[in-house]
Amino acid sequence: MFSVNKVREDFPILKREVHGKPLVYFDNAATSQTPKVVIDTIVDYYSNYNANIHRGVHTLSQEATDKYEEARIKIQKHFNAKEAYEIILTSGTTHAINMVASGFESLLQKGDELIVSALEHHSNIVPWQMLCEKTGAILQVIPMTQEGALDMKTFYELLSDKTKLVFCNHVSNALGTINPIEEIIAAAHNVNAAVLIDGAQATPHIKPDVQALDVDFYVASAHKLCGPTGVGLLYGKQEWLEKLPPYQGGGEMIATVSFKKTTYAGLPHKFEAGTPNICGGIAFGAAIDYMNSIGFKEIAAYENELLTYATTKLEKIEGLKIYGTSASKTAVISFNVAAIHPYDIGAILDKLGIAVRTGHHCAQPIMDYYQIPGTVRASFSFYNTKEEIDVFVAALEKAVGMLS
Ligand code: ALA
Repeated sequence: MFSVNKVREDFPILKREVHGKPLVYFDNAATSQTPKVVIDTIVDYYSNYNANIHRGVHTLSQEATDKYEEARIKIQKHFNAKEAYEIILTSGTTHAINMVASGFESLLQKGDELIVSALEHHSNIVPWQMLCEKTGAILQVIPMTQEGALDMKTFYELLSDKTKLVFCNHVSNALGTINPIEEIIAAAHNVNAAVLIDGAQATPHIKPDVQALDVDFYVASAHKLCGPTGVGLLYGKQEWLEKLPPYQGGGEMIATVSFKKTTYAGLPHKFEAGTPNICGGIAFGAAIDYMNSIGFKEIAAYENELLTYATTKLEKIEGLKIYGTSASKTAVISFNVAAIHPYDIGAILDKLGIAVRTGHHCAQPIMDYYQIPGTVRASFSFYNTKEEIDVFVAALEKAVGMLS
């Protein structure tokens, strides 16, 4: 039985004050907070078995290797990948997308078409633009609607036998829209295009099943789902990971090296050159265990309650406009109040102990569509409460009063 009071006990940071006020942390879409069990995992690693992996005969190295590979298996099971070696540990979502984009350089030809959605974070736009510049491929855009959903009719019109890749986020970071990725994947596969889904914002709320989705690549970051920063994953179907060339050269990714010829290691090592974020990977596994112990159904149901509660209260504030009103969304509310600059609201909220993100949220095309410089974004997690929403709404009313 989900109990928010019990859950809050797991997060030491929630007890702190900011500017003399109890912290209200509503910037979860940027980075989630870290439960004690994950903090303890990090402390345990550095206190007891800090060593390099896959390299040493000594006990510490073997312990670290075992824990790191155990974490990979936890991640594999969580995402339901067929094989553990289809999980490449990366420094995060951005790294994972760049790995795939760079790998496609040798597979594309001038005039090939790539389709991106208008709802993307810059990290799922810029690497593909760079790829198009290098290859002469053409980047096409699925437009968005006023509600902040994808214009699927245009998507179908864009698809053709020239389409080689489609990339789209599972959930929009700026608006919270949950995209119809099942439909997008099936339609792209009908024209033999591969699909990369950016799951950075979905994974804190939804447990994706990469085999059921039949997705080619799925990427995400640990720090959005109660893990540490600097670690994430690239899931790729084995056939694709074998087809793509390595992203970086270096130690660990080779089978043999000589000045005549180097041969590459098998998966996943081919994509994991250099010493990885060992502690981060192990802590990512602990975070996944923690999230599953709470339960994704429970998390989604509770966060949905918070979303409805906050939306109803915010809509009563005069001049407040919410951006992203799709029926299918996570607990993210992006808004502006009249012509007040989002930064000014964010700065006053901070003085009152409330953390929100303001600005373009690394999604400038969305802001351009709405013709706004940015928004205030409140993003809720399963450890937030309705009482905190009350404090936030009262603080917002105060800020609006001061700035009007
Ligand atoms: N991508 C993160 C966000 O949306 C940082 O805030």
